[in-house]
Amino acid sequence: MRKHIVAGNWKMNLTFDQANELAEQLMDALEKCNLNKTELIVCPPFPYLELLSDFGSDSYFMVGAQNVNDNERGAYTGEVSAEMLASLELTHCIVGHSERRLYYGETNEQIAHKVDHLLGHNIKPIVCCGEVLEEREAGKQFEVVERQLKEGLFHLSERAFGNIIIAYEPVWAIGTGKTATPQQAQEMHAFIRGLIRGRYGATTADDTSILYGGSCKPNNAKELFANPDVDGGLIGGASLKADDFVAIALSF
Ligand code: PGA
Repeated sequence: MRKHIVAGNWKMNLTFDQANELAEQLMDALEKCNLNKTELIVCPPFPYLELLSDFGSDSYFMVGAQNVNDNERGAYTGEVSAEMLASLELTHCIVGHSERRLYYGETNEQIAHKVDHLLGHNIKPIVCCGEVLEEREAGKQFEVVERQLKEGLFHLSERAFGNIIIAYEPVWAIGTGKTATPQQAQEMHAFIRGLIRGRYGATTADDTSILYGGSCKPNNAKELFANPDVDGGLIGGASLKADDFVAIALSF
């Protein structure tokens, strides 16, 4: 059966000292609670990956990157490859976050390449999808998400797809304090699972973790996670406070 997963995306926040402090606070908070079977993943900015890996090595949480380049290696100044992430023994990497799609023009085709490189290095991609406000207002959210998944992911074999985690993040809910209602989240998550079922069959669909992201906080996580097709969360703002992040992880 699929796993419950809560992943924190620190985005472009925190200095080195602040990152160290947050990691320490997280360890303190996690020591005192029982997360049961929920998997926790922390995705700090690139320069802090090794620091976090050291903290995470005793298995309270796993460590992931927020992005990866879509080429294998070479003259791509400022970029980071899947091979480099693998050499730090990272387990996960976020791919296709809406901020990358919107601000850096990332396409579904590039996302497909990123996913391939990550899987080639045994790193599990957390692949983001989701519609912008105008698309939802026009009733196009299902069409948009379907295209993102088909073009970014559905080239994979069934076996490779078994390593994919999906994050549905309606763009209008990210960092806005405006959360999707539990019904809106469930409706889209069930739709996504149906697409996976159609492409890969019932077993793969049932085994795929689909996370919700977009202003998920301690006060709404329980309601969201109570839905049958919501298997956890991708948490931005609230992952920068250890207590909030752990409270969300305890919301199952
Ligand atoms: P948020 O971000 O929780 O701050 O809305 C979620 C995300 O972008 O992953």
